[in-house]
Amino acid sequence: MAAAKVALLLLLAAIGCNAAPAPEACQRLAKRLPTKNLHEIFGEWVLVWSVSDFHVGQDLLRNLTSSHVEFKLHADNKTIEYNEKNTFSNSCTSYFINLTAPSDDAEHHTWTIHSIRLEKNGVEVEYNDTGDVEFYESCDDCLLMTYKSSRMKFLLSYRKEGSHRDVEQHKVAHDDNKKLAECLGVPHDKPFIYDGVTGLPL
Ligand SMILES: *[C@@H]1O[C@H](CO)[C@@H](O)[C@H](O)[C@H]1NC(C)=O
Ligand SMILES: *[C@@H]1O[C@H](CO)[C@@H](O)[C@H](O)[C@H]1NC(C)=O
Ligand SMILES: *[C@@H]1O[C@H](CO)[C@@H](O)[C@H](O)[C@H]1NC(C)=O
Ligand SMILES: *[C@@H]1O[C@H](CO)[C@@H](O)[C@H](O)[C@H]1NC(C)=O
Repeated sequence: MAAAKVALLLLLAAIGCNAAPAPEACQRLAKRLPTKNLHEIFGEWVLVWSVSDFHVGQDLLRNLTSSHVEFKLHADNKTIEYNEKNTFSNSCTSYFINLTAPSDDAEHHTWTIHSIRLEKNGVEVEYNDTGDVEFYESCDDCLLMTYKSSRMKFLLSYRKEGSHRDVEQHKVAHDDNKKLAECLGVPHDKPFIYDGVTGLPL
C-alpha cells in the first residue's frame, strides 16, 4: 500500500517535471496511418503548420512563406514520389524525393528516403541526406506526417489544396498539433503557421 503510494507520487512528479501529455492523449493523437489507408495521402497539399526539433530546421521554418507537396504512387506500389516546393522571402527550393516501402508487410509503414534531388531557385545543388517519413491519421482533408532526416525531425500538418486558405479552421487544430508535437518530443514554440494568403510555389 505504502509502496504503491510512493510509486504513484513518483509517477506524478515525473509527469509534472516534463509536462508530457497524458499517455491516453498520445494514444488518441499519435495514431499512425495504417498502410491499407495509404491512398489517403496521394494528391496535392499545402503546409499549414510545422515545427522542428533542431535550430537549423527552425530557421528554415522561420523564413518559409509557403510550401506545397504532392505525393504519387509509382506503378510498382512500393515507391512514393514526394515532391515538395517551398517559397521563402527571396528564394525557392524544390525537393524531388523517392520513398521506398519496407520489405515487411507491417500494419504501419515507415517510408525510407531512397533518393533526393534538390533545386534552389531552379538550379540543381548537391544534396545528400538520409531519413524516413511516417504518416499519421488526421481529419478528412488533412495530412499529418513526420520527416526525419539525419540531423532533425519535422512534424508537418497539411491541408488539401482548396481548404488551405481557411486560417480560422486551421487554428482549431493547433492545440492538437502542439500536443502531438509533445508526444513525439518536438518543441513547438517556433512553429511555421501559414497565413492563408501567400501564393503557392509554382
Ligand atoms: C533566414 O533569413 C535570414 C534573414 O533574411 C537569413 O539571414 C538567414 O540566412 C535565413 N536562413 C535560412 C535557413 O534560410
Ligand atoms: C498495385 O496496386 C493495384 C491496386 O491495389 C493493383 O491493381 C496492381 O496490380 C498493383 N501493382 C503491382 C505491381 O503490384
Ligand atoms: C525517382 O524514381 C524515378 C523512377 O524510377 C526516377 O525517374 C527519378 O529520377 C527518381 N528521383 C530521384 C530523386 O532519384
Ligand atoms: C551520400 O552519403 C552516403 C552516406 O554518407 C554515402 O555513402 C554516399 O556515397 C553519398 N552519396 C553521394 C552521391 O554523395
